[in-house]
Parts: sequence; structure tokens; C-alpha cells
Amino acid sequence: MKNINLIFILFLSCILFSCNQENKVEEIHLIPLPNKLELNEKEFNLSQDIFVSGDEIFENELDYLSRILSISKSDNDGEIQIEKVSDYSDEEFDLSINENGIIIKATYPQGAMRAIQTLRQILPPNFEANPIQNVILPTLAIHDSPRFPWRGMLLDCSRHFMEKEFVKRYIDLLALHKMNTLHWHITDDQGWRIEIKQYPKLTEVGAWRTLKDGSRYGGYYSQEDIREIVAYAQERHINIVPEIEMPGHCTAALAAYPELACTDGPFEVETDWGVFKDIYCVGKDTVFVFLENVLDEVMELFPSPYIHIGGDEVPKFRWEQSDICQALKKREGLEDEHELQSYFIKRIEKYLNDHNRQLIGWDEILEGGLAPSAIVQSWRGMDGGIHAAQTGHYAIMSPTSHCYFDYDLDAIDMRKVYAFDPIPEELTAEQAQFILGGECNMWSERAPRELVDSKVFPRILAISEIFWTNKDLQDYDHFYQRVQNHYTRLDALGVNYGFEAVPISSNVTFKDGIFNYELVSTIPDVHIKYSLDGKGYERYTKALQLDKTTRITAVGTKNNKPYGEYQQTVYQSLSTGKKVTYTDIFHENYPSSGEMALTDGLKGTSKFRDGFWQGFFGDDMEVSMDLEEPTTIQQVKLGAYQYNLSWIMLPLWVEVQGSVDGEQYEFLGKGTHDISPKKEGQFFHEFDIQFPQKEIRYLKVKAKNFGTMPEWHPASGADAWLFVDEIQVH
Ligand code: ACM
Repeated sequence: MKNINLIFILFLSCILFSCNQENKVEEIHLIPLPNKLELNEKEFNLSQDIFVSGDEIFENELDYLSRILSISKSDNDGEIQIEKVSDYSDEEFDLSINENGIIIKATYPQGAMRAIQTLRQILPPNFEANPIQNVILPTLAIHDSPRFPWRGMLLDCSRHFMEKEFVKRYIDLLALHKMNTLHWHITDDQGWRIEIKQYPKLTEVGAWRTLKDGSRYGGYYSQEDIREIVAYAQERHINIVPEIEMPGHCTAALAAYPELACTDGPFEVETDWGVFKDIYCVGKDTVFVFLENVLDEVMELFPSPYIHIGGDEVPKFRWEQSDICQALKKREGLEDEHELQSYFIKRIEKYLNDHNRQLIGWDEILEGGLAPSAIVQSWRGMDGGIHAAQTGHYAIMSPTSHCYFDYDLDAIDMRKVYAFDPIPEELTAEQAQFILGGECNMWSERAPRELVDSKVFPRILAISEIFWTNKDLQDYDHFYQRVQNHYTRLDALGVNYGFEAVPISSNVTFKDGIFNYELVSTIPDVHIKYSLDGKGYERYTKALQLDKTTRITAVGTKNNKPYGEYQQTVYQSLSTGKKVTYTDIFHENYPSSGEMALTDGLKGTSKFRDGFWQGFFGDDMEVSMDLEEPTTIQQVKLGAYQYNLSWIMLPLWVEVQGSVDGEQYEFLGKGTHDISPKKEGQFFHEFDIQFPQKEIRYLKVKAKNFGTMPEWHPASGADAWLFVDEIQVH
């Protein structure tokens, strides 16, 4: 009996011990890093028999806090208090935990909310899924305020519709990381997503597109949904800036109301991604009546002081062809179509200003003259923002180089995001005051809702710290360690985060008939296994030596979990490693690996930005190569690419010539194809040119550029890109 009691006591104390261990916070790992943090020695026991209290201006924050902690509010002094102080800036706060309780100090409710979100990150991650019963917190003192007042994320719910609950979840995730702006992109060519009572067809027609298989895709937010989302955001002090695109990117609206275009239509809600030439007709007054009526309802729904009107990627073709647009241009004494666009934006700006709202537009709104009080969102690099700041206009920085989270990790990984500085060196300290901050942009053309988490996380952790924490405290290695700890909180929140960088890539060189093949990972702690037959995997420890065409597959693990896969084939042929000479040099934006790109044994993949494709803009490709000795050949292959929405077209033909002396060339063979230029999507096509055996030493390969984009194409008349990779000779 005695023994049984002892065992029972031991068992019970073991349970209690492990429970305490689980709910004792030993270390804290905040993202973004606070600007001032002092950790103390003592502890505070947060349990459910304590109370929350505070100044009445913090009623919303007290309610929020009491709800997330499952702790009651009290009119008397509680153990958790939110106190009002007189002179803190909007989002500034103190958060101190001592052995008697938790005190938050702020002047404004926003500051109190940022403190609460900091406290949320101090609590154990399991709190996100289950209310806390009992937790021992370390004592500490934080004083914090953000580096930038504008810390945003764009969510594109036009290209892919994302349900109300998903949008609310993102608002909560933004709040957790002390971001303060949701830039909500809700109208575009592929879908109009906001109910406008005065124009019901905008959602009846404009919210739905007919997919290639005949099915309908779409959805929209009713005004009631929007009120609910806005209220949810307000509770967390996230401002929602709606983006109503004009004068371009508006095919969905034109499908509903074709009379707003310069030509008769009819129009259909777009199913492709890109830039389309039918836009609102600037010469029609009825367009402004329509837009003002729409904006009235938008302003009614969104309390945001700022309204985004897009303004990007506006082809002027229709305005050039339209008599009424040309008449307007003449009447207003405008020089060109850029000035017409500026006229359009200024007119909308005046309307917004008359209603106490400020206009934001993408950096194209600088063209033709910037509206007087417009805020510029710089996306085509930093120049738009620099120009705005230098001329006394506010700017928001979201350059494609660092802030486009729809881009793949090979273009923008977490380290690169962390290297972003919204303040460019060109600006004086005074001009830098005009940089409000920045945004990360989650465009959804190629990212339906299911992919959004893995694109946004963990990169947004880096951007949140760049926007919040002072530059002199930013340190990637320290940040990286905190991210590793933060994953358990993201797990508890069900965030399906992606990789920090491309998990595995390769370095390949070719010499003396052998590929030296290295597998690399830029992420610490990724272990790689590889296989040369797709079956047996071995741990990768050193470079592989490969003497023939070989397919390599590799898998990564990090912390014993799968972390990425990689596949690549090295192709060996008579041309591998041979030097190539160009008649017209490749385009500087798509050089690939330069003069060895076409014979390095590595082929371009299904992604045109993979770094393997070599591009020629408007030009043909004509190259020659020296096989170094007389060689009998009978086949030449050339890979090419088509993605007509990005103006990349297959060559019309490929021709091969051979020579024994490098001077006199003779025709060996020609490859053509019957693939339609209209064929959609992104794809690879290999020209395979075979001819009777021939002994030669020198070879010329010519690929004929498609020329200019045809009449049916949105970029009609523009030069076409020619993308080629890997010449193989057998
Ligand atoms: C943009 O990415 N077109 C603003």
C-alpha cells in the first residue's frame, strides 16, 4: 500500500512537473525584434484567476486581451493593466512584466494593440490553439515603436478569390507581426470582387470568369462581408486600403458595363494573366460619373484615409485611336497620352480629396505629371519612390526586387528580403522623411489561396522586422534563429509556411569530358541525399564526377523533416563545353551564364526566369562554335520556349550550317514547327534537326526571331523575345 502511494505521488508530481515545464516560458523570440528589451530575473504566474483592467479609451484592447487570454475584465485594478500615458506616438508602447503583473502603457489604442501582440508572442505557442490555464512568464521591460509608419501587405483577391475567413486570418497574422496595413486588391481584369449597390452587374457579371473547361470561377464580398472584415481589422488596428484599379486592369468592369470602354465590346472577364488594351475611356464623362459613384460606396465601406486607384500598366492604344480621347487631349492642351493618364488621375484625386481621402497609385502615376497630393507606391524598382520623395511627395516602397512574394524563392529568398532597405541611399535625411514605409505584395495570378501561406511565410517575418526594427539592430543571423523558434507558433496557427530559400541547387562545371557536379543549400542545417537512378539515395558529402548524360535527383531534410527536392539532368554531347561566338549578343536581362550558356550541359526549365534561358529581344540568334577537331555529326538540337503573354515566342525556324575551315559554310539542315503562336501557357519545344552524316569542325546555328507581336496580342506591334537554351550536337 505504502509503495503504491509512493508510486502514485511520484506519478502525480511527474505530471505536474512536466506541465509546469511546458508552461514555463524560458526564452522569448520576438519577431519583429523590439527596439528596447530588458530581461529580468524574476517570474510572473499568469493564471485565470487574475483580471484585466485599464483606461476606458482602451476598451477595445481590453476586450481583445481578455478574450484571447480567457481572463475576465475588472473595474478595479487588475494584474494586467493598460495605462494611458500622455505623450507617446501612435504605435509606441511600454510592456513590462514584473512579479506582480503586466503593465502596458500607451497614449493611443494602436500602441496598446501592438503591445498586446508582443505579449501574445511571449506566451507559449500552444496558447494560439488552446487558452492558457497557467503560465510562468519571465519578467521584462520593453519600450517600442516602429521604424516606419506604413507596414503593409498587398493581398490580391481579384485574380483568385479568397473567402472572408481567409482574409480575416491574414489580418490576424499581420497584427501578430505588428504590420498595420492590408492593401486589398479587389478589382482587376480577372474579377470584380466588391459589391456596389448602384452597379449590380459589377458582381453579377464581373465577379465570374468562364474557364477554358467551361466552368465558372469567382466570388465577391457583399457589403456586409466587407463591413465585417473592416471591423475585424479595426479591432486589431490594421488599416485596410482598398485598391480599385483604374484606368487599366478593368476588363471585369468593362464586361459588366461595356459602355465605359472606348470601343463597343463586348468584353469578357479575363481568364489570362497580363496587361490588356481595353481600359476606361478617359474621353467619356460617364466614366467619371461611374467611378465617382463607385468610390462613394467604397468610401462608405472603408474608413481608410487612403484609397488606392492602381494606375499601373495602362496601354494607351485605345486612347490613341479614340476620337473623343483625342478631342479631350486637344481641348485640355495635353501633349501626349501620358498626360491624358495624368489628367485622369488628377481628376479622381480631386474627387477623393474633396471627400477627405488621399490617393495612392503605382509609380506609373508619375508619368505625365504627378497629382498634387498623391502617394506613390514604387514597384518598378525604387526610382518612382526616390523621385516622389525628392519632389516632396510621400512614397511607399515595394520594389519587385525584394517585395514581390508571388516571385519564386530563386528570385527573392528570406535573406534577400531581410537585406531590403526602404530608404535608398540617394535620399537626404530630409527627403527620407517622405518614405512612409513599404509593403510586400502577394499577387495571386499563380497563387490561389492554397499557395498563399507558403509564399508569404516565412518571408513576411523578414519584412515585418525591416519595417519595424531600427536598422542598427537588424542582424540576419539573430533573426534567423528567432525564425526557427517562431515556427512552432506558426504551426499552432496552422500556417502552411514554405521554405526560407531554394532548399537545394547545384554548381556544375565541365572539364576534360567530366561534369563536376556539386549540390548546395544556402540554408543552414539542410542535409542532402541524392540518387543517380531515382531509387537508391545516398548522403551527399562531396562533388559528383559524371562522365555522361545523367539525371540527378536529390532530397533535403531539415530538423528531420523533408525540406525540398531537386532534379536536374546534365546532357553530354559533342558541343558540351565548347565555346560559342555570337553574331548579335544576347539581351543583358537574360544572359544566362553568358558565352557558355548554350553548351554548359544544362537546359532551361519550364520557368523562363530560371537563369538558364538566354534571351534575344527582337533579334535572331546566330552563333558559331568550334568543335576543336574534325568531327562527324548527324544531329543538332536546340531548345526554345514560348509564353506568348510574356511576349516570348518560338523561333520561326532553326537552321544549321557546317564548315571544315570556319570560312566556307554549307547548309546541313533546317527545323520548323507548326505550333500556333496563340498556344497558351509556358512551354518548351526542342528543335531536332537531323541530316546525313558529315565531317565538319565548325558549326553555325541560327534561330529566326518570331518578329513583332501580332494584331490579336495585347502587345501588338512590340518586338518578340526569343528564348533559347542548349545546343546539343550528336
Ligand atoms: C504591379 O505589380 N503591376 C503593380
